[in-house]
Amino acid sequence: MDENKYLIDQKLSKLKDLKNKAALGGGDARIQSQHDKNKLTARERIDFLTDKQSFNEMDALAHHHSNSYGLDKQVFLGDGVVTGFGNISQRKVMIFSQDFTVLGGSLAEQHGRKICKIMDMATKIGVPVVGLNDSGGARVQEGVISLGAYADIFLRNTLASGVVPQISVIMGPCAGGAVYSPAITDFIIMVKDTSYMFVTGPKVVKTVTHEELTSEELGGADTHASKSGVAHFVANNDIDALNITKKLLSYLPQNNAEEPPFIPNDDPYDRMDKELNYIVPANPNQPYDIRDIIDKISDKDTFLEVHKDYAQNIVVGFIRLGGRSIGVIANQPAVLAGVLDINSSKKAARFIRFCDAFNIPLLTLEDVPGFLPGSDQEWNGIITNGAKLLFAYSEATVPKVTVITRKAYGGAYDVMNSKHIRGDLNYAWPTAEIAVMGAKGAVEIIFKKEIDSAADPVAREDELINEYNEKFGNPYIAASYGYIDDVIEPSRTRPILIEAFNLLQNKVDKNPYKKHDNIPL
Ligand code: HXC
Repeated sequence: MDENKYLIDQKLSKLKDLKNKAALGGGDARIQSQHDKNKLTARERIDFLTDKQSFNEMDALAHHHSNSYGLDKQVFLGDGVVTGFGNISQRKVMIFSQDFTVLGGSLAEQHGRKICKIMDMATKIGVPVVGLNDSGGARVQEGVISLGAYADIFLRNTLASGVVPQISVIMGPCAGGAVYSPAITDFIIMVKDTSYMFVTGPKVVKTVTHEELTSEELGGADTHASKSGVAHFVANNDIDALNITKKLLSYLPQNNAEEPPFIPNDDPYDRMDKELNYIVPANPNQPYDIRDIIDKISDKDTFLEVHKDYAQNIVVGFIRLGGRSIGVIANQPAVLAGVLDINSSKKAARFIRFCDAFNIPLLTLEDVPGFLPGSDQEWNGIITNGAKLLFAYSEATVPKVTVITRKAYGGAYDVMNSKHIRGDLNYAWPTAEIAVMGAKGAVEIIFKKEIDSAADPVAREDELINEYNEKFGNPYIAASYGYIDDVIEPSRTRPILIEAFNLLQNKVDKNPYKKHDNIPL
């Protein structure tokens, strides 16, 4: 009996030793170096991200089987990535967290296989994938096997797209082809100062283009949040990034067959706000911040802005309305008068497609003077890119509600979830101006001869502008055709929207059968 206990204890002790060894990653010195860089370790990150003691590690004992370039003397349990499943706010997620302390978090056969395993499982069981990226890229010693492992992951990212939400948190290096896994996922969160992403690094850039740039300048968090739009969120540090991840997940369903979570709160459904009546300036050329309207109509403190620093002439993000998760798309009159251009069209289109894929209803707040004119826009494809937004709205079958706060001119009127492209409930404020174009442009076309021949052309033009504004600068003609369903008092917007989304909660709409669509990429 004692001998039996002794033998079993030996086995238990071996298991414990192996697990302890795995938990140590690349060892104390490398953990210290990670901390010195103001970075948490792979396991510390998981600990913070998941509910207490909910994380179940998988493949902790996996390791590479390579002996190339002395790798046989550098065998680490786990092979540089911690994978498994855990809970975030009591909802399951599959997680991988690259361990920079092990061979620089470099990715090779076993490391890649572990990531693929959790992704396959996530897709089968319908659970989001969160990837914490911190890696020197393809493990040089394992050569082409590493490249194959990357491609295995890219394929799974693609297959999981639109099935389960995928979130990439970049918490260290992410370079070369490695960037393409996060790029296929739904959201990228980058940590300031400690993370960067680029296809080719500063040294190669200098050789090829003679540009001298730091890693931060070339591919740091601020660069990707404001210039390229690759990053959706910027975090100040690891903890901030993990908090953003948790908050983001709170708006999302587990998969494309589920509804987003309903989280009731204390903000009264019927709260009205008189300030909304006066928020749009009487002068149509005066800007205002659309975020003030978003804040006033949503459940208190629930607005999570996505892509905050990119294409700021459009605002997108998640809010709650009466506890329901809603994706909001809003022209921003405070930036470029809220005009639609290439970047804002792409930004909004991608967001709309994400929401539609995951059953998140859409609210559009519209104040748009039109598309941005100019050779730069035309030559870089405002036609194709503007069409992305139109396409995204048109194909979306989730509940879609629009409120026109002020301008709805030209093609932009059609694009911004008009009734004609399946807007379900379209409202306008009394300050709305719905017309083919602004008054000045319009009178210059239709009354050109009359203005030119007038005794005082300027005075005559002003007169005609006033007449045009009187006639068309309002929501009532559109209302007379049923192009909007009601003109509402702004202060009542919140209760009206909550009621609208309640009405639409069981909406069923379909697109014709197709293998997939052909959005103008
Ligand atoms: C093997 C790697 C590695 C890699 C880092 N290490 N990257 N080992 N393959 N790709 C190892 C280092 O040798 C070192 O081991 C340890 O990780 C920590 O790296 P350091 O250089 O000491 O850290 P740091 O100074 O912070 O620099 C980090 C780094 C640098 C900037 C990421 O390591 C680096 O430049 N690595 C190479 C990056 C790269 O070129 N990767 C390939 C990209 S191409 P020791 O034992 O000394 O601690 C690619 C293609 C993918 O990824 C294609 C997919 C389609």
